[in-house]
Amino acid sequence: MMPGPGSPLALLGALAGADVIRTGAADLEAVQQDHRRLYRGKALALALPRTVDEVSRILAFCHARRIAVVPHAGNTSYCGGATPDESGTQLVLSLRRMDKVRSVDPGDYSMVAEAGCILANLQQAAEAAGRFFPLSLGAEGSCQLGGNLSTNAGGLNVVRYGMARDLVLGLEVVLADGRVLSTLSTLRKDNTGYDLKSLFVGAEGTLGVITAASLRLFPRPRDVATAFVAVPEPRTAVELLARLRESSGDRVGSFELVPRVAVELVARHVPGVAAPLGIGSPWYVLCELTSPRADEGLGALLERELAAALEAGLATDAAVAQNERERQAFWRLRESIPEAQTREGASLKHDVSVPVSRLPDFLRRASAWVQGHVEGAVLVAYGHVGDGNLHFNLGQARGADAALLKSQEPAIRRAIHDLVHEFGGSFSAEHGIGRLKVDELARYAPPLELELMRAVKRAFDPHGIMNPGKVLKT
Ligand code: MLT
Ligand code: ZN
Repeated sequence: MMPGPGSPLALLGALAGADVIRTGAADLEAVQQDHRRLYRGKALALALPRTVDEVSRILAFCHARRIAVVPHAGNTSYCGGATPDESGTQLVLSLRRMDKVRSVDPGDYSMVAEAGCILANLQQAAEAAGRFFPLSLGAEGSCQLGGNLSTNAGGLNVVRYGMARDLVLGLEVVLADGRVLSTLSTLRKDNTGYDLKSLFVGAEGTLGVITAASLRLFPRPRDVATAFVAVPEPRTAVELLARLRESSGDRVGSFELVPRVAVELVARHVPGVAAPLGIGSPWYVLCELTSPRADEGLGALLERELAAALEAGLATDAAVAQNERERQAFWRLRESIPEAQTREGASLKHDVSVPVSRLPDFLRRASAWVQGHVEGAVLVAYGHVGDGNLHFNLGQARGADAALLKSQEPAIRRAIHDLVHEFGGSFSAEHGIGRLKVDELARYAPPLELELMRAVKRAFDPHGIMNPGKVLKT
């Protein structure tokens, strides 16, 4: 329906710029549901600004009129962080038209890019300049920089390069009242007061809207050695990780744990993905060593270390990729796990982390709990073991009822997260809080931390218009 001439939407449309405010059904439909289909909201309208100035005008207007704004990037959130509520009063703001790489400076090892850039395009822009942008995750073909930074995304290279936060040198942010905070510097050293930019990373759009960022680049990896390794248990995987870090001079770029059930799921649902070592082992590891030096000899080193690991009983079989095609095949298997799980049926996801050394014990205790208490589910626990981060997911068992699994969700969530807490871990390692884990944050965060978070929220967003209901309870 078209807004009447004097309505707030019509005024916003006139102020924001031609063709910025959309109310068509197709435009709204695309942003009203999260990709896991956990939430379906109803948007007031969709704003598609092309410039920082347009974002600023939109927010100033919404601030004055107390209109809630829901920043929305690639819609790949696992926690419903970018979906409007059901009220029909929230404006969804997408920066997908702000997708320019503003500059790449190879000498400075930095680039400045707008929030609407698709992650894979940023990786390519860095590569075209002979540099490397290490943020990498399954959704990189569609997720956007603004979402990556707002959720402090992790992904596959964290063990070496850190989370999204570690890659940020500066930010341009439009505040809730429309003012623009610009710290797009590429300085490595700048100790001038509070680190304001850091507050917006991981804030999930609840404090302001990130419109651009200056990012850290690295030398390109020129020697890469990748292996798919069968291991008898998670404990030996963690031991193998420690050994490889030591013997390679900390060249481990990725270290991912894959259970047999995940290999089976991928083989069943994702055509063309092969299991490099069959399905005879209960656990596998995908590990990758990288170096910016072309002549590091990482392939030979990895072969040597894996032979020693086989000898020591830390591994039972191993395949080292002999070429880029084989390497891609290993990665395709790992990256297809979420898709295979979705195709198999319903799933309950727990994105948890514990100290790496405690991960085997955690897995043992958590798996035993699932075995004794959960009906009609298959445990698919996999992930970024190099970072102590597991996707402890429970999938609908074949022939079981999805409703049966869902009905157990509150009890399962409580038991798993309580155990994570006991292990000194986090109930949200890399997916954020969104709407899904608001109650979990309220439950597990120390009261003083919550008090300070609320004070920060009030300081940046006094009228509570920025992504209300996400991260903190409203
Ligand atoms: C992954 O590492 O594949 C993801 O973060 C997705 C998941 O939780 O399943
Ligand atoms: Zn992950």
